Amino acid sequence: MPTTDTPVATPIGREVLVDPALGSKPKTVVRLRDWEYVERALQRLIAGWGRYFAEWEDKVAIHRQIWEQAECVRRLRERLAQFPGSIHNLDQPVAQQLELLANTVLLAPTHQDAVDGIYQVLNGALTASYLHYVEHAHPVHDAPTVAALHEIISVKEQQRLWLRDYRRRYPHTIDPEYRAAIKRELAACGGLLQALPVEGQPAAPAGVNTDFRLPARPAYPAGSRSKYQIMPCIDADFTQSVETRRLFWCYGYLREMNLAMDQLCWIYDSPDMPWAFHQDIARHLWDESRHGDSGYSRLLDFGITLRDIGFQPYDEALVDAPGMPLAAPQFATADAIPALGRRDPTTPQQLYDVVFSIGMVAETGHFAVKREAYEDFQAGGDLESAEMMIFDIIDESAHVQYAHQWLPALAARANIDNSDYRERGAQERQRRQEAHLRQLEEAAQQPRAGDDPAYLFYQQLLAIMRAQHPLSNAATCPPRSPKPM
Ligand SMILES: [Fe+2]
Ligand SMILES: [Fe+2]
Repeated sequence: MPTTDTPVATPIGREVLVDPALGSKPKTVVRLRDWEYVERALQRLIAGWGRYFAEWEDKVAIHRQIWEQAECVRRLRERLAQFPGSIHNLDQPVAQQLELLANTVLLAPTHQDAVDGIYQVLNGALTASYLHYVEHAHPVHDAPTVAALHEIISVKEQQRLWLRDYRRRYPHTIDPEYRAAIKRELAACGGLLQALPVEGQPAAPAGVNTDFRLPARPAYPAGSRSKYQIMPCIDADFTQSVETRRLFWCYGYLREMNLAMDQLCWIYDSPDMPWAFHQDIARHLWDESRHGDSGYSRLLDFGITLRDIGFQPYDEALVDAPGMPLAAPQFATADAIPALGRRDPTTPQQLYDVVFSIGMVAETGHFAVKREAYEDFQAGGDLESAEMMIFDIIDESAHVQYAHQWLPALAARANIDNSDYRERGAQERQRRQEAHLRQLEEAAQQPRAGDDPAYLFYQQLLAIMRAQHPLSNAATCPPRSPKPM
């Protein structure tokens, strides 16, 4: 679509947004598209570099930002669809220059430079672009765009405050060459202050035309390596003890942070999927990160810290990986990046398999035991642990719907048959349940050593929680369902 680059200014410095070349569409439509591209690119950049953040609070923050980015995009898309052309205004090509800008920011020499490139330079320029528009647009005619931008600017302000806090903890000066390269690309985009005409090849999603790869292993918080493997003790007592189930849910939720760290790859590695998928995955990812933080927050209520209980990866191969856990400053140099390895992009088949396995097996399979825990914690007088359960159950109901909704498209993308997915889900849940029960039977044959340090630690955790907030039904709560997997 041709646009004029030269703004038409009124005597009071306001910019007129009518362009005869655009017919009934004000120039705002093209601005909204450019902004949407940059916001989506920022989400991809945050996903691309997100697995390098080691500390718990930073994981919580950047996972939230993945969702915030989706919310910024949602606001821009909603406004775009309100102009003549309606939903046909969405997903239109934008200038390739924006892709070059995003890729330059993505290809940072180190993780710490990427943090500055993303949050300080690119996010800063984008915020300036919004402010410039708000100052120059007609405050009455275009008030809905201005209102949407105000909401987005307040999100950017939160991200800026997070960066300030992060930089106080990890001081760093951006690589001058990298900064200059981004500034050059920004200048080529007119400082993001005007709509960019689409000439020739349009922009592809950020990163797809680069050799950027996500780290194979996510970073873990310093000092969070588990000292004891408490899961075998929890598994053994799960059906019989409501105290064990309370410990399990706090710790089990904490470990869901692992899923959010992996979902960063789902987002980055599916650039060809429709925006609605990324919107749902962004919420799903944030929810899993919140479940991690929710479990941890409940443990903290009992005085149990991450360093005490440990943050066990789901992936057994990561447990004893050399160097794990790692701290953020270790990724400040270019040589440190290979420490976490590089992963090949998730294939369409792998993305289908993981969405199937999380949605149709793990999430669907846990509802019954979660409901039992919710009831038992209430009956035992621990309403805060019950509260943790119910908010999770609410989120999980939506997550299972995401699986039902997206598996057909993911199957088509991977060229596989999805027709019997419900049956396969039921079969896989049953298979895992049987395998888990067999494993428990085998474990029960082994004599439990009373002086096993892991067992003593597990008993100690139960005692701490009991002392802090006893469950009134500890002795009377009937046996419940076994863990489903
Ligand atoms: Fe969850
Ligand atoms: Fe979930």
